[in-house]
Amino acid sequence: MKNNRSDFPIFSHSISRKPLYYCDNASTTHKPQQMLDALYAFYATYNSNVHRGVHAFGETTTEHYEHARTSVANFINADSSEIIFTSGCTESINAVATSWGRTVLRPGDEVVVSQLEHHSNFLPWQQLIHTNGIVLRSIPVLPDGTLDMAVAHSLITSKTKLLAITHVSNAIGTHVDLMPLITQAHAVGARVLVDVAQSIAHQRIDVQALDADFLAFSGHKLCGPTGIGVLFIKKELHEVMPPYKYGGGMVFEVGQVDATWLQAPQKFEAGTPPIAQAIGLGAAITYLLEHINFDELQQYEARLCARLIDGLHELQGVRILGPLDALKKNGHLVSFVLDRIHAHDVAAYLGQRNIVVRAGHHCAQPLAQALGYDASVRASFYFYNTIEDVDALLEALRELIQAI
Ligand SMILES: Cc1ncc(COP(=O)(O)O)c(C=O)c1O
Repeated sequence: MKNNRSDFPIFSHSISRKPLYYCDNASTTHKPQQMLDALYAFYATYNSNVHRGVHAFGETTTEHYEHARTSVANFINADSSEIIFTSGCTESINAVATSWGRTVLRPGDEVVVSQLEHHSNFLPWQQLIHTNGIVLRSIPVLPDGTLDMAVAHSLITSKTKLLAITHVSNAIGTHVDLMPLITQAHAVGARVLVDVAQSIAHQRIDVQALDADFLAFSGHKLCGPTGIGVLFIKKELHEVMPPYKYGGGMVFEVGQVDATWLQAPQKFEAGTPPIAQAIGLGAAITYLLEHINFDELQQYEARLCARLIDGLHELQGVRILGPLDALKKNGHLVSFVLDRIHAHDVAAYLGQRNIVVRAGHHCAQPLAQALGYDASVRASFYFYNTIEDVDALLEALRELIQAI
C-alpha cells in the first residue's frame, strides 16, 4: 500500500531532524498538505462568518461550510440535515445525553454501555443516573478483551432505552460485532448510539447499513483539524430533541419568555461554529477518498499489528492485551504491558528515540480494572506507518528490557 508520507509535512519537520516513528494515531492523526491548504485558503482568502453576512464573503464561507457538511454526510451515507458539527466526539455524545437523554429518559429506564467504552461514552450516561434516575448497565469483557455477547444479549431488555456502544476499543483495539446488538436493541424499542471515533478513519462506515440512531466521531482522528466533531442524528429524532446549547444562529423567533428554533442542523449549532475546522474536515475526507483504499488500509494496518504482536511474543515479560488473532486480521492498534517497567517509563524511553506511543489507561478505566492493569503502552497505526516503525519500536523495547 502506498504510504503517502510525502503529503504530510510533519515527516520532513520531525524533532531534531531525526526520523519520526509516529505510532499514536489512535490519539490523533497527522495532517496532509491538502487539508492544511484548505485551512489556509479559508483564513487567507474568504474568512468570514457563516449563515449571517449577505456579502459575498459570507456566502462563500457558508457554501464551503455546507459543502463540508455534505461531504461528511456522503461519507457516512446520511442526509446533510442529519449532520451536526460539534467540537469533537466528546461533545457529540454529551449533546445526545443532554438533549435526548435528559428529555426522554425516566427513572428506571436503562442505558446499556460496555466495559470497552472510552470515558466520553460512559461518563455522560453515568451522569444520567443522578439527573434522571436511569439504571446504567455495562456489557462485561472477557479476559481476551472481547465482549461477553451472551451477557450482552441478556442485558438488552424491554427496559433498555439506549444502547451506547463503541465500534472499536481505543484502549485494546477490540472490534465490536455491532449488528446483533443493534438489531436486538431496536427489537426492544431502544435507540442506538455508536461511537465510531476509532473506526471512522480505518474502514467505511454506513449509518444506514448500521441503522444507528446516533453516531459520533472527531475530525482530528481522520486527518482533519482538532476542534471539529460530527454528530449524526437520525431525522426522525430531530423533533423530540431540544437544543443542548442556546445562542445565535439557531432561532426562528425570539420572544420575551420563549423562542422557537430553526430546523436541524442549525437548531443544534448555536453560536459561531468551528468553520475552518469543518472546512478542513471536508478537505480531509476528500483527501482520504482520493488517496486511500479502505479495504487495503485495513489489511495493511493488520499486517503491522501482526508484525508487532509476533515481535512482542519474542520479548520477555510482555503481556499483550486484546483479542490477538482478531487484531492480526483487522486491528490498527496493539496495547501491551511490561512486567517490570511501568507504561509511562516505557513511553518516555521510546519518546527519547522519537518513537511516539501512548501510555496510560487511555481514558478507559473500567476496562483497565476489568482486565487487571493500571496502564498500558499503545502503538496505533495509519497508512503512513511503515514496517520500519514497527521494527524501530521492537528494537527499542528489546534494548530496554535487556538493560533492566
Ligand atoms: C473510542 C473513542 N471515543 C471517544 C473519544 C473522544 O474523542 P475526543 O477526545 O476527540 O472528543 C476517543 C478519543 O480518543 C475515542 O478513542
